[in-house]
Amino acid sequence: MVIRLEEIRKIYRLNQTDVPILKGIDLTIDKGEYVAIMGPSGSGKSTLMNIIGCLDQPTSGSYWLNNYNVATMERKFLAQVRNRQIGFIFQQFNLLPRADALENVALPALYAGLGSKERKQRATAMLERVGLGDRLHNLPSQLSGGQQQRVAIARALINQPSILLADEPTGALDTRTGQEVLNLFEELNQEGLTLVVITHDQEVGDRAHRIVRLRDGMLETDLQAVLV
Ligand SMILES: Nc1ncnc2c1ncn2[C@@H]1O[C@H](COP(=O)(O)OP(=O)(O)O)[C@@H](O)[C@H]1O
Ligand SMILES: [Mg+2]
Repeated sequence: MVIRLEEIRKIYRLNQTDVPILKGIDLTIDKGEYVAIMGPSGSGKSTLMNIIGCLDQPTSGSYWLNNYNVATMERKFLAQVRNRQIGFIFQQFNLLPRADALENVALPALYAGLGSKERKQRATAMLERVGLGDRLHNLPSQLSGGQQQRVAIARALINQPSILLADEPTGALDTRTGQEVLNLFEELNQEGLTLVVITHDQEVGDRAHRIVRLRDGMLETDLQAVLV
């Protein structure tokens, strides 16, 4: 089991009122799963992703990541876990504009303490893996949206995380380019990577093997695709 959430609640305090955003989420995700978390805008998807990604802590409830209790982890250890165990993909790619593809991909390996030669080798291999072996020295502005997202995927994978978390990964892409990114996700999942994709787009959700639906901060349905 990679992820186990029990009774996860998140409450924001706005103008002296408590606003419940997540209202008791129970969810487990096994190694190698490809899960889409779906639901309308405002249903709590990004809030849930930030908790799964250890970017934010729940107000209450427990979260085990690879059998470590995240709620009781020390800050420093938590940052390490986030860097090593989780790869993040965002709608807007979030690449450094003045760094080329290779430097962008290599950055998390620097934080993980790898030497310069190994960072470069690994980053090159990751960019080749996502089909950008001939774009190592392009700046983000010299790449298409789909290529930028593939650089972001290479960056997310460089520390060999146990899960890839993607929040609306195709939201800024046209349909065809979005399909390319989803094809890459499928290949990575076939190679054993655990994928959690947050989306409000049914076509994106349909590529996953399990759809978890959120509504008003609660799990509405949890459906496994029937393989025929
Ligand atoms: N930092 C915050 N403070 C207060 N309310 C927030 C905060 N972040 C999100 N919300 C609210 O929580 C709800 C869920 O947001 P979010 O998780 O981003 O939903 P989704 O990703 O499904 O669109 C929204 O109503 C949003 O306004
Ligand atoms: Mg969101």
